[in-house]
Amino acid sequence: MTDGNGRRLAVVTGASSGIGAATARALAGAGFEVALGARREERIEKLAGELGGHARRLDVTDRDSVAEFAEWMEALGGASVLVNNAGGAKGLAPVSEMDEGDWRWMFEANVLSIGLMTRALLPQMRASGSGHIVIMGSAAGVESYPGGGGYNAAKFGAHALTHNLRLELLGEDVRVTEVMPGAVRTEFGLVRFEGDEEKAERPYKGITPLTAEDVAECVRWAVTLPPHVNIDRIDVKPIRQGGVALFRRDG
Ligand SMILES: NC(=O)c1ccc[n+]([C@@H]2O[C@H](COP(=O)([O-])OP(=O)(O)OC[C@H]3O[C@@H](n4cnc5c(N)ncnc54)[C@H](OP(=O)(O)O)[C@@H]3O)[C@@H](O)[C@H]2O)c1
Repeated sequence: MTDGNGRRLAVVTGASSGIGAATARALAGAGFEVALGARREERIEKLAGELGGHARRLDVTDRDSVAEFAEWMEALGGASVLVNNAGGAKGLAPVSEMDEGDWRWMFEANVLSIGLMTRALLPQMRASGSGHIVIMGSAAGVESYPGGGGYNAAKFGAHALTHNLRLELLGEDVRVTEVMPGAVRTEFGLVRFEGDEEKAERPYKGITPLTAEDVAECVRWAVTLPPHVNIDRIDVKPIRQGGVALFRRDG
C-alpha cells in the first residue's frame, strides 16, 4: 500500500495472537509494510518473518518500552498507521468483589496504552501525511454486563478516547477509527480465565463466533478507503449475538 509519499508502515500492537496477528496478516496482504509489537517476541518475530515485516518487543503499558519502540519506528521511516489492538480482560468478578490487580492490568492494557502509543507515534503519523489511528474497542465498550466491571470500564474508556482523538485531530490528515467486536474466538478467554479452557470456551457455545480474520478484515477495509473517508466506528458481532451478553444459542 503506497500513497503519494511511497511506502506505508503500519504498526500493530498485540500482534502475537488473535486479532492482532490476523490484522498484521491482512495489512501485509493489502500491501502495507508491517511492524509488530508484543511482549512475546518469538511469536512476533516468526510472524514478521512470514510477512516480510518487522518485529520488536513492546509492552504497551511501559513508557520506556513504548519510547524505544517509537524510536525504532522512526528509524524504519515512520509509522503512518497505528492499530492499538493490545489489551484484554482479567476475571469476571462483580464490582463488589473487584480485584485491584486485575483492574489495574485492564486499565493499563486497554486505556493507558492508547495514550502512550498515540503520544509516541502521532508525530510520525502527522509527518506521513496520511495517518490513521485504529482502536480495538469492544461491544463491551458501549454496553455493560454482570461481571464485566473492570473490562467494561476500560473499554468504555477506550471508546471515550477514540472520540477525544477524533475531535482533537479534526482538521488534520489523521483518521481515527474504533472497531467494536462482539465474541471473537482468540486467546482472550484463556487470558481472562488464566488458562481455564472450559471457562474460556463458554461464550462460544451454540454459536459461531467471529474469527480474528473477520475483525482484521474490518481494520483492513477502514484503513484502505480513500484518505478523505473516516470510518468512525465499526460494530461487528456474530449473527447470533444481539448485545454484549445476549445470544441465541443452538442446543
Ligand atoms: N476476543 C474477543 O471476544 C474480543 C472482543 C472485543 C474486543 N476484543 C479486544 O481485541 C483485542 C485483541 O484481543 P484478542 O481477542 O486477539 O486476544 P488475545 O488473543 O489474548 O490477544 C491479545 C494481545 O494483546 C497483547 N498484549 C496484552 N497486553 C500487552 C502489553 N502490556 N503489551 C503488549 N501487548 C500486550 C498480547 O501480546 P503479549 O501477551 O505477547 O504481549 C496479545 O497479542 C483486545 O484489545 C481485546 O480487548 C476482543
